[in-house]
Amino acid sequence: MENRHKNYFHIEPDKGLLNDPNGLIQFKGKYYFFHQWNRFDTSHDYKEWGLFLSKDLVNWTNIRSAILPDRYDDKDGVYSGSAIENDGKMYLFYTGNTKLNGVRKSYQKIVVSNDGRTFIKQESTIETPEGFSEHHRDPKVWKKDNKWWMIVGAQTNENVGAITLFQSDDLLTWKYQGIFYTDTILDQMCECPDYFTLTDGIEILMVCPQKRTSDRQSDRPISSYAGYLVGKMDYKTNKFNQSTEIKMLDEGFDFYAPQSFLDDKGRRIIVGWMSRMDENQERSCPTVKDGYLHCLSMPRELKWIDNHLYQTPLKEYENLRKKEQEYKNEYGIISNNSKAFELIIDFDEAIKDFSVSLNSNTNPIIYHCGKLEIGRINWVTEKLETKIIQVKDLTKLHIFCDSSTLEIFINDGQYVFSMRYFCDEQNRNIEYKSLNEKGMINFYSYEEE
Ligand code: FRU
Repeated sequence: MENRHKNYFHIEPDKGLLNDPNGLIQFKGKYYFFHQWNRFDTSHDYKEWGLFLSKDLVNWTNIRSAILPDRYDDKDGVYSGSAIENDGKMYLFYTGNTKLNGVRKSYQKIVVSNDGRTFIKQESTIETPEGFSEHHRDPKVWKKDNKWWMIVGAQTNENVGAITLFQSDDLLTWKYQGIFYTDTILDQMCECPDYFTLTDGIEILMVCPQKRTSDRQSDRPISSYAGYLVGKMDYKTNKFNQSTEIKMLDEGFDFYAPQSFLDDKGRRIIVGWMSRMDENQERSCPTVKDGYLHCLSMPRELKWIDNHLYQTPLKEYENLRKKEQEYKNEYGIISNNSKAFELIIDFDEAIKDFSVSLNSNTNPIIYHCGKLEIGRINWVTEKLETKIIQVKDLTKLHIFCDSSTLEIFINDGQYVFSMRYFCDEQNRNIEYKSLNEKGMINFYSYEEE
């Protein structure tokens, strides 16, 4: 039963704990996905950058250690950051985390690679500007009009989440430019910021508020989530002016610290860490017994359609399809022994009722009068826990199921729901009810029978 929950098409470590995706980049024809990694055990006590490589975004090779915490200014963790290419070289930006007698100090650090195999730490360093706590981390860099810009997740001395801005002409020396974004509703800090232009006139700021004041007052557990805002960067005032409220990127249980990159097909792709687990859940997560914990989400393409941010699965996943079955009956059972599969339920019109249960009913999905309810058996309480999303017109469900992950794209990516789940059954029959007359289900197994 070893590694019984090992995923087929998700990036996960063979050992230790993985968290945030870092330094996502397509460089000299290959996709580089670095990530936060504790290679020793499944705790958060040690952090370096691990690396996975791919030519096609679906088949990955685990390269393992890439950047280690081996200097005075990163000795307590090579924390999250990003990547860019300049003059044929890869530049990586990360946060060096240090603690001296329990007192934290953070440095933004730079690494250069000519070949994507050797990573050389540079001497230059950015210290935290005045007015902020040492919770200053996760640099993200972009270029605009021959200048380089960097944003860093921050926390003001008044305990308000913020994002700081820096500018550079040579990628090595950086000057502080002030606060890029802040909002009094954010407390603790803003983790893993990312900023990009998605399409003409649509600029997106992604941010992970560690906690929100409103969460403290409600009965929702205090949990972090990945959010985004639409707005505009003003290069005169050096501020991001938001035009929307912060919204959640993913409606599911497990999605955090996403990062984006642009590939050579012009796609803006994001990848997240598939977790928002609390300590309790982490400790008793079934994979801990097998010596590893967590995985990354599938990469998804962002699109702006009808004034809404869509996240769509990459076409590359079609290459994983092995066997296809088609269903049109109102009720049905799809017999299945594969742990990795894709299910496309196309209603072709807005429907009223529908339900489907996956993984021996570990994962019920029920739609009724504008409400989509998605569940899993919580592995700590062993009880069903559900989330409800308001979906006015449900026309399509596109489900990607791996051994222990589920990603559900609703209405071609209008909403996405991501989660981990754990089920020991071999038989993973799928049962559905109330398929409409125009509806059709396509089932693709990713494993040869
Ligand atoms: C987000 C985060 C980042 C930090 C990293 C440390 O999950 O807390 O802010 O750089 O993880 O592993």
